[in-house]
Amino acid sequence: MKKYRSLDLFSGCGGLSLGMSLASDNNGNKIETACAIDIWEIACKTFEHNLGLKPICEPIDDDLVRKVNQQHGPFDIVVGGPPCQGFSTAGKRALDDKRNGLVLAFLRAIEITKPKVFVMENVTGFKTYQNGKIHEEVVEFAKKIGYQVRSAIVLASLSGVPQRRRRFLLVGSKVGTFRFPGEVKLPSGENLFNDGTVDALALEKFFVQKPEDGQEKWTFNDATSDLPALAAGERLEKYRSSAKNELQKYYRNGSTKPLDHFAVGHKEYFIEMLSYIPQGKSALDPEVQRTMPENLRPTSGFKNSYQRIIGDAPSPTITRNFTTPSSANCIHPTQDRALSIREGARCQSFPDWFDFLGTTDEKRLQIGNAVPPLLGKAIGESILDAINQTWDEWE
Ligand SMILES: C[S@@+](CC[C@H](N)C(=O)[O-])C[C@H]1O[C@@H](n2cnc3c(N)ncnc32)[C@H](O)[C@@H]1O
Repeated sequence: MKKYRSLDLFSGCGGLSLGMSLASDNNGNKIETACAIDIWEIACKTFEHNLGLKPICEPIDDDLVRKVNQQHGPFDIVVGGPPCQGFSTAGKRALDDKRNGLVLAFLRAIEITKPKVFVMENVTGFKTYQNGKIHEEVVEFAKKIGYQVRSAIVLASLSGVPQRRRRFLLVGSKVGTFRFPGEVKLPSGENLFNDGTVDALALEKFFVQKPEDGQEKWTFNDATSDLPALAAGERLEKYRSSAKNELQKYYRNGSTKPLDHFAVGHKEYFIEMLSYIPQGKSALDPEVQRTMPENLRPTSGFKNSYQRIIGDAPSPTITRNFTTPSSANCIHPTQDRALSIREGARCQSFPDWFDFLGTTDEKRLQIGNAVPPLLGKAIGESILDAINQTWDEWE
């Protein structure tokens, strides 16, 4: 039984590392995070508190990675999600733009540490940012230093996460083929991004469609029905019934109570307004507005504002705003309040013992930022598969 050594860059509170530690192959081989780096102190503390490894709390650059490689290497695997924003890089190379510095830092870390496999995780827009230039240059860089490279969009609900969260993954391998878990393809069977051109509208239409019946294992209700009902502003850290399914057993394994089952408070008029919103609808919807007294009607918001979650489907994407109905689709399906911190963590597939440190705002951000651990587990299993294989159809 072997433990492959992983370096987790931009490790946050540890969603990806926790998930990868749950993966194993047929021979019992596993993955352990041998070193993690993140600049955010409270996230590093959460990581250490829950996973027993103290991340290096410093900005990632070449000197630090060289030092880490000497002290903690060699690494079989490097993973990470370098923050990246869409902006225009008129003319120049995208990787020369300082604003893409963290993507370059990630690539340089690969060049320095030379793992068998690396996985870069990012927002779904990554492949279209800067007219595809940043993606092209990342692929070119990775190929030049000896990796076979592929990328895809994956949908977390297809890997056992009770949430429709889409992420972009770019994988480099010096060993075998990486099979993307829950890869999202167009109905035609074409990979969405293989030809490099993206019709954003067509994409959105596809993404809002429900995947075929049976492909998604768990709904919001499956994920939360054993938690007690809460009023806005209330905290109840106990279970209301025994675990009802395998997912609830997974959350509760090793936990005596659901930490942070706490819902933020709302004003009286706001709670009344929420009571008029049916599942899957928003208070900004004219049909819904007609049913509510005029003085309660919100007048503006974002696309997902004041929307009630559908209990019988996976949750929508959990962002840092999952306790703020004016900014996100985060109203409980049957209770007139935003999701509790624990419900947000469960939608992200964190077990109940996972204790987020810091203020409520810091907890929300750590949870919203994370790779869902059960997606991390699926990524880990694909990495182990790739390590166990030899070459096949990679271009
Ligand atoms: C999307 S989050 C990572 C989430 C993590 N993979 C998980 O699963 O929990 C990105 C992280 O990058 C970190 N970060 C941003 N700039 C950084 C830098 N210059 N050096 C190190 N970490 C940085 C942030 O603090 C944040 O925790």
